Amino acid sequence: MPRFVSLRPDAALIPLPWATPLEAWPDDLLVALPRGLSRHVVRFIGVGEAIYAAKEINGDIARHEFQMLTDLNRLGQPAVEPVGIVTDRVDDDGFPLDDVLLTQHLQFALPYRSLFTRGIRHDTVLRLLDALVVLVVRLHLVGFMWGDITLSNVLFRRDAETFSAYLVDAETGELHPHLSKGQRRHDIANGMTNIYGDFLDLKAGGGLDSSLDPGNLVKLIEARYNELWAELTVTEEFSGTDLGRIENRVRRLNALGFDVAELDVDASPGDRIRIRPVVVEPGHHSRRLMRLTGLDTEENQARRLLSDLDRYRARAGLQHTDESIAAHRWLTRVFEPVLAAIPPELQDKRESAQLYHELLDYRWFQSQRERRDVPLDEALPGYINDVLKRLPDEVLPSALAPTDQQHDDEEPMPEDPWDIALESVPSVSTLDRATLLARSKA
Ligand SMILES: Nc1ncnc2c1ncn2[C@@H]1O[C@H](COP(=O)(O)OP(=O)(O)OP(=O)(O)O)[C@@H](O)[C@H]1O
Ligand SMILES: [Mg+2]
Repeated sequence: MPRFVSLRPDAALIPLPWATPLEAWPDDLLVALPRGLSRHVVRFIGVGEAIYAAKEINGDIARHEFQMLTDLNRLGQPAVEPVGIVTDRVDDDGFPLDDVLLTQHLQFALPYRSLFTRGIRHDTVLRLLDALVVLVVRLHLVGFMWGDITLSNVLFRRDAETFSAYLVDAETGELHPHLSKGQRRHDIANGMTNIYGDFLDLKAGGGLDSSLDPGNLVKLIEARYNELWAELTVTEEFSGTDLGRIENRVRRLNALGFDVAELDVDASPGDRIRIRPVVVEPGHHSRRLMRLTGLDTEENQARRLLSDLDRYRARAGLQHTDESIAAHRWLTRVFEPVLAAIPPELQDKRESAQLYHELLDYRWFQSQRERRDVPLDEALPGYINDVLKRLPDEVLPSALAPTDQQHDDEEPMPEDPWDIALESVPSVSTLDRATLLARSKA
C-alpha cells in the first residue's frame, strides 16, 4: 500500500492505480490540458471535480519541492499549490516506483508554448516577459533563489490586457532569509541562459516572430528586472524641502501594483532625507477590490474593475455614498447580472474577471464605432457572438478526448490537442486593444 503525505487529504485519490507508473495510466483518469516541457513524467488527473497535476519524481526531491511550494504559498507568492506526496509505491512485481508529487492544477493557466503560437504579437511577448520579471522580483524579495528560471517552469494567466506569472517548478529552489546581490545575479544569469535556449527553440519551431531576437529579448528581461528591483528597493536621497518625493515614491509603487507596508524614512543627517521601502506587498488593487467586493482577481483585472466601479459610482450619483455600499450595488446590479447572462456552455471560456474586462473593451470599441455610449447589456450579445463563441476553452477543453502525451526534450514534439485548438483562433490575444482597433477600422 502506498503512503499519502498530505496537507489536504482527498480520499478520492486513494483508490487510484499507484502501482502503475504514471506513464501507463489509463486515459479515463487523465485530463488533456496544455502543459510545458519537462524532464519528469507529469500528467493531469481528474478526480471528481478536482484536477491535480501529478509529477513522478525521486522521494527526496519530491519532499523538497513539496516543502518549497508550501513555504511559497504561506508567503503569499504566486506558485502552484501543493496537495501532497504519494510515497512507498511498489509495482505489481514488487519493484519500487518513484514518488508522486501532487499539486492543484492551476486553472486558466497557460504554458508559454500555448501562448507563443504563430503570429503572437510583439507587445504580447513583452507583456509575457514583464509578468515573468514581476514573478522573479517577488520571489527574490522574499529570499527565494529559484535555481531554474525557464519559460517551462512558469505558467501564465491572463490579467486584463497583461499576464500574471506563476511558479510551477520549485525543485531546485532554496528559501533564504535574504538574497545577496550575488545570489540574485547568479539566479538571473542562469535563468537567462535557459530562456535564451527556450527562445531559440521557439524560433526554430516558428513560434517566435523573425523580428524578435532571442539575445535582445533576454537582455530586455534583465534590464526590466533591474529596473523593477531598483524601484522597489533602492534608497532615494533628497533635500528636506522636497518632501513630495516621499508621496511620489509611494504612488509610483502603487502604480506598479505594490503597497508599501513599511517605508524607512531617515531624516537624521541634517537637511537630507533618505527613504527606502522596507516591506512592499504586491496586489495593491486586487486587495482593494477584494475588500470592497470579495472578488478574488489578478492585479490588473482588479484595476480595470475598480475603474468600472468608479464610473458606475459617478453615473449612479453615488459619489457621496459609502464606498463599500456603492461597491455592493455595482457587484449585484452590474457585475453579477453580466455573468449570469453568459450561456452555461460558454462559461468555461474565460475566468469571470477576465471576461468582464474583455466585455468592457468590446463595449468601448462598439461605442467608438457607433459614436455613442453603448450600455453594457447592449454590448453583451455582440461580445458573446463575436468573441466568446470563437475562443477555445481555457478551463477544460471538453471537446477534446482525454488523452495526454508526455513531451520530452529529445523526442519530436507530439501534437498537442490544445495547440490545434489554438491554431483555429486568429491570435492568442484576440481581444486586446490593437486587434479590436484594427477590426473596428476594417
Ligand atoms: N499544478 C499545475 N498546474 C498546471 N500545470 C502544471 C502544474 N504542475 C505542472 N504543470 C505543467 O507541467 C509542466 C511540467 O512540470 P514541472 O516543470 O514541474 O516538471 P519537471 O519535470 O520538474 O520540469 P524540469 O524539466 O524543469 O525539471 C509545467 O510546465 C506545467 O505546464
Ligand atoms: Mg520544469
